[in-house]
Amino acid sequence: MEQKGRENWGSRIGFIMAAAGSAVGLGNIWRFPYLTGENGGGAFIVIYLGCIIFIGLSIMIAEFAVGRRTSLAAVGAYKSYSSRWTFAGVLGVLSAFFIMGFYPVVGGWAMAYIAKSFTGLLAAPEAVPDVFGAFIGGTAQPLIWMVIYLAINVFIVARGVAGGIEKAGKILMPMLYILLIIVAVKGITLPGAGAGIEFLFKPDFSKVTGQTFLAALGQAFFSLSLGMGCMITYGSYLNKQEKLPSNALIVTLMDTSVALLAGIAMFPALFAFGMEPSQGAGLVFVVLPQLFAQMGGIGVIFSAMFFIALFIAALTSSVSLLEVVVAYLMDQRKMERKPAVYGTAVVMAVLCILSSLSMGALSGVKLFGVGFFDFFDILTDKIFLAIGGMLLAIFTGWFVKKEDLKDELTNSGAVPFGLFEIWYNLIKYVIPVLIGIVAIMGIMAIEQTSLMIFGLLIIVVLAIFSNKL
Ligand code: PFF
Repeated sequence: MEQKGRENWGSRIGFIMAAAGSAVGLGNIWRFPYLTGENGGGAFIVIYLGCIIFIGLSIMIAEFAVGRRTSLAAVGAYKSYSSRWTFAGVLGVLSAFFIMGFYPVVGGWAMAYIAKSFTGLLAAPEAVPDVFGAFIGGTAQPLIWMVIYLAINVFIVARGVAGGIEKAGKILMPMLYILLIIVAVKGITLPGAGAGIEFLFKPDFSKVTGQTFLAALGQAFFSLSLGMGCMITYGSYLNKQEKLPSNALIVTLMDTSVALLAGIAMFPALFAFGMEPSQGAGLVFVVLPQLFAQMGGIGVIFSAMFFIALFIAALTSSVSLLEVVVAYLMDQRKMERKPAVYGTAVVMAVLCILSSLSMGALSGVKLFGVGFFDFFDILTDKIFLAIGGMLLAIFTGWFVKKEDLKDELTNSGAVPFGLFEIWYNLIKYVIPVLIGIVAIMGIMAIEQTSLMIFGLLIIVVLAIFSNKL
């Protein structure tokens, strides 16, 4: 359909909302707070912000530049330079598959909690943690919600990511901000909230290990949708007038501010209720309902609105993940959009069933020492995305001509990009080395060594067979 003359974004704001829609997702509101809790609070946030500023932003600029330069999605963009690089794009497609092996499960939880807000969840605040545990450990319920969630993704992507999702983003992103601010204000004003603020903003570096760095780096990539070709794909639809560095900056700022807001919304309440900060994936589903329950009748509305916002944030991200795979199948495998979407979604659904059941019926089944959910999560977030980002940096710094990059980032000299030299040196020398160091430190510190080795092996195998891909 749109294979020849490539589609462009309707407007600047449309592109920013689509890219920010991809970036702002479960990573910000669900994952960032619980990772912060698990990794000791303020120190994790400082390292995370460092990763965003010095690595994430530069990689996003590079992804936009490569995408717009080639007008091709990830695999094609790499391949257009050299078939030896195809594997880096394919690694991205694989990452999209694996992230979609658990993301829709959590998206389904968010949907379920919209319904639960109205059906008595808030009436018994003490029972909230148990309700969550019983729900995700169940069989039929989380699976049904996951399938509904995935079906909505299929519905949207099968029609092309057109006006609908962009428009939704334009309305719902501001709504998300407003809701988070209201919830944060409510949390901060609870008695005993100060400890939460302190936990967030008073870094205690004694808790930092190699793993903290890897967790922060992986989260930076995950949250900004980097290291897997998503922003290459989105950049490929950009017109030549757009300024890439400033757009990347705006998307990065939006993403980071939502993550911090989510932290501020959650931790004061958590400490006020005397709960454990390191309770993992359930954090947002356990702390916030208890906060909403404190609000009286109106809490039901806030709860529903919050989980609707979480669902929407997730949706605009998972749509982009599905699109990465579909774009590959259409561009490189010459498939039609609809069969590509349906086929991809079926595989993703199977992965999600395994992930969901790993919280209950299949909790005994372990791959490299972890359940399916954690397997997909750790593999992508701790290994694939960071390595994918490193490959992109090496590719951009050493294989794309410097003049071409300058041309792309200054719109052929029409707009200034004063930081070009700094950016270029970061991409070419600093970032590959930094990611390399963090990856090695992380591998040495991580408990799941065999999983790390397995992940790296996949990358090596892909690299060896890249000519056949
Ligand atoms: N950035 C999304 C989030 O924070 O939830 C997740 C994601 C979307 C990761 C798209 C990677 C991607 F390509």
